[in-house]
Amino acid sequence: MAKEVKRIAVTGGAGNIAYNLLFRIAAGALLGKEQPIALHIMEIPKVVDALEGVKMELEDCTFSLLKEIRIGCDPMEMFRGVDYALLVGGKPRGPGMERKDLLYENGKIFVEQGYALNAMASPDCKVLVVANPCNTSCLIAMHHAPNLPRKNFHAMTHLDQNRAIGQLMVKTGAHPLEISNMIIWGNHSPTQVPDWSHVKIGRKPITDIIADKAWLDGDFITTVQERGAAIIAARGKSSAASAANAALDGIRNLVIPTRPGDWFSSGVCSDGNPYGIEENLIFSMPCRSNGDGNYEVVPGLEWSQSVKEKIKITEQELIEERELVKDLLVVS
Ligand code: NAD
Ligand code: LMR
Repeated sequence: MAKEVKRIAVTGGAGNIAYNLLFRIAAGALLGKEQPIALHIMEIPKVVDALEGVKMELEDCTFSLLKEIRIGCDPMEMFRGVDYALLVGGKPRGPGMERKDLLYENGKIFVEQGYALNAMASPDCKVLVVANPCNTSCLIAMHHAPNLPRKNFHAMTHLDQNRAIGQLMVKTGAHPLEISNMIIWGNHSPTQVPDWSHVKIGRKPITDIIADKAWLDGDFITTVQERGAAIIAARGKSSAASAANAALDGIRNLVIPTRPGDWFSSGVCSDGNPYGIEENLIFSMPCRSNGDGNYEVVPGLEWSQSVKEKIKITEQELIEERELVKDLLVVS
């Protein structure tokens, strides 16, 4: 029997990340080579015409899985019946800015989009927020979509996890599948906590392979924390291909079972978390899934004193961001 079409919304459809994302989704890199899909691609009115060009190019690729393409700028229309919503649309930061400088301008987008998801999306829609500052943007969307399970909201921190694994590959020459158990805790910002303490390389503890603890505690962590800014400084624009790649990972984490013993990092709702993190935040934590679209936070991992201190700082930053947008969290 033919599989039912899954509907995937992508906002910011004429932007840099979307141009690296849509074609891979259509080729089956998100939900697999057997799953027919429909793309609902959204933009703001000013650039919605550019989506015609994106649509033409998608058609010209003759993707067999792509059964329908809708383009438009009304979130109520574009989120109708969607099973997945990848919220990419929003301003990127420029050189010298922090992601939280976008808080208020981008934050407003997620009031409207949360409301529209609430009204129109499939009741189990999974939402991945990419636009920055992604944790607090995700918190805003989640508040305005009370009909959807809070567990279904994710902020993309898989890019940070990939960056960490990329650095470990460069350092050791290991294959990515040999590297497991990396964690990103907290905010997708320079306060994020890249925690290498549980990492295994070729099933051995990381410190058996990398003796240079000063590098692990120093350059390794700061490279991951500052990677977004380093890319902006080098390219003049923010990461796009690697961000699109991580957005695919962010959803695939939920639809493919996590490797036994491993986990993935995602910014998830902190309600009832096993680590005593303040509730009602979107906080990156180690998660695992059996591939049914849901996940659990992996409990019981120990924190070194240094990780514990850093986690307090990133938690505090997220509490402050929540305070700064408190009027955007009010549901009318
Ligand atoms: P871009 O400027 O190339 O594209 C963004 C697009 O979003 C634009 O075409 C714009 O018109 C559109 N847009 C703005 N408001 C919208 C709305 N309300 N509805 C629909 N579309 C809207 O930017 P980009 O490089 O694609 O980056 C997009 C966002 O992703 C930025 O906020 C960036 O900071 C963020 N980002 C996050 C991560 C992460 O790891 N979480 C990584 C890279 C970039
Ligand atoms: C990234 O980490 O590359 C993105 O969040 C873009 C940015 O502003 O750093």
